Amino acid sequence: MDIQEIKQRFGIIGNSPLLNRAINIANQVAPTDISVLITGESGSGKEVFSHIIHQMSPRKHGPFIAVNCGAIPEGTIDSELFGHEKGAYTGAIGERKGYFETVNGGTIFLDEIAEMPLGTQARLLRVLESGQYIRVGSSKVEKTNVRVIAATNVDVYDAVKAGKFREDLYYRLNTVPLKIPPLRERKEDIFLLFRKFTSDFTDKYRTPPIQLDDEAQQVLINYSWPGNVRQLKNMAEQLAVLERDRVITAATLLTYIPHETGRSNLPMRLDNQPKEDFSERDILYKVLFDMKRDMVELKKLVAEIIEHGGVSKNFQHNSPALTQLYRDIELPSVNNHETQFTLQQPVNNSVGNNNTDYNITHEAEEVEESLSLIEKESDLIRKALKKHKGKRKLAANELGISERTLYRKIKELDL
Ligand SMILES: Nc1ncnc2c1ncn2[C@@H]1O[C@H](COP(=O)(O)OP(=O)(O)OP(=O)(O)O)[C@@H](O)[C@H]1O
Ligand SMILES: [Mg+2]
Repeated sequence: MDIQEIKQRFGIIGNSPLLNRAINIANQVAPTDISVLITGESGSGKEVFSHIIHQMSPRKHGPFIAVNCGAIPEGTIDSELFGHEKGAYTGAIGERKGYFETVNGGTIFLDEIAEMPLGTQARLLRVLESGQYIRVGSSKVEKTNVRVIAATNVDVYDAVKAGKFREDLYYRLNTVPLKIPPLRERKEDIFLLFRKFTSDFTDKYRTPPIQLDDEAQQVLINYSWPGNVRQLKNMAEQLAVLERDRVITAATLLTYIPHETGRSNLPMRLDNQPKEDFSERDILYKVLFDMKRDMVELKKLVAEIIEHGGVSKNFQHNSPALTQLYRDIELPSVNNHETQFTLQQPVNNSVGNNNTDYNITHEAEEVEESLSLIEKESDLIRKALKKHKGKRKLAANELGISERTLYRKIKELDL
C-alpha cells in the first residue's frame, strides 16, 4: 500500500519527512512477525501506529488487544497476561485465561512497557523467544502465537541502566525501533492537523467554522506542544465548542495553552494583559452558562407554542440549540392573518462579540445571566477565602485554580 493510501485509511494527517518515515517503517515491518518497540512522547500517536501495524499484517483478522502495563497492579499483571489456575493465589476462585491465550493468532499491544515488573519481563521474554508460557499457579507449559508491539514514552534504556528493565528483553523488543516524532519536530503538520480537527469538531457539534488570524497561526506553530497531537486535538475541540468569535486571535489562543516551565517555545507575549490558565472550572462555567441559556430559551419556546398554538414570526430567541432545532424539525407556525411562519435567526448578546453569524441584541434575561456568572464566581472565591481564613494558597487549591489566577481574580473582582 502506498503511503498516501495508508494515511487515508487510518486517518493519519501530516506530510512531514519524519512522519512519512515512521509510516514507511510501519508499512515494511507490518507483514512480518517481528516485535516492534514504538517510542514517542505522550499523545504523539503510538497507539495509532500499533493499529496500523496490526491491520496491515496477516494477523489483521485475528484479535488485537491493548494492555497498559502501567495501569495494572503488580500483583495481578502476570495473571492478566498469562492466566492463572484455580486457587493460584488468595482470591483466585476460578481459573482464568490470560491475554496471551485469548489473543492467540493476533497482536498484543503492551503500552508503557517500561512499567512492567521484572518478574513479568522474564515471562514475556520467554513467550517472545519460544512462544511458551506458564499460567500462574501451574507447571504446565502452554504454547501461543502472539505478535508483540510495545510502546513507551520514556527511554527504556534508562530503565535498563537503572536495573529496572532486562537488557535482553530490551534488545528482543527493540528489533525494529519505531520513533514517532513529537509535533514540534514536524511543525509543517501542525496547521494541517488543526484544520482537520476543528472542521471535524465543528461538524460534530454543529458550530460555525473556525479560523485563525495570522498571529494566531504563528502561536500555534511555534508552541512546543508537550502533549502533542492529543493536546492539539483537545484544544481544537474546546475552540469549536466554546469560542463565540470564530476568527481566533493569538490572545484567545494563548488562553488555551498552559504556561510552560523551562522549555518555552512561545513567541513573545502578544498583548500585555496577564493571561489566565483556561481552567476546567472556567470551561464548566461556560458550558453551564450556555446550557442554562438554552433552557431559558426552550422554556420560552414551549410557552409560545402553548399560548399561541405555534411559533409566531415575532418570536425571537437567543440560543444556537434552538437554531439547530429549527434546522432539524419543522415547528408548527401560527397560521392566522397577521402572522406567518418564518424562522428567526438567533440573536447573540455575548459582550464584545462582533460575529456576523449571530446578530446581537440585548435582552434583560441574558444580561442577568452573565452578571450572575460573575457574581457566582466572586461568591465562590469569597467563600473559599473565608473557609481558609484568607490563606490564598489553600483557597486557590480548593477552587482548583492557580494562586496566580486567584490573585488576579481578587483584584479584578475587587474582593
Ligand atoms: N498523525 C495523526 N493524524 C491524526 N490524528 C492523530 C495523529 N497522530 C495521533 N493522532 C490522534 O491523537 C490522539 C493521540 O494519539 P495516541 O493515543 O495514538 O497517542 P499515544 O502516543 O499513544 O499517547 P500516550 O503516550 O498518551 O498513550 C488520538 O486521538 C489519535 O487519533
Ligand atoms: Mg497511548
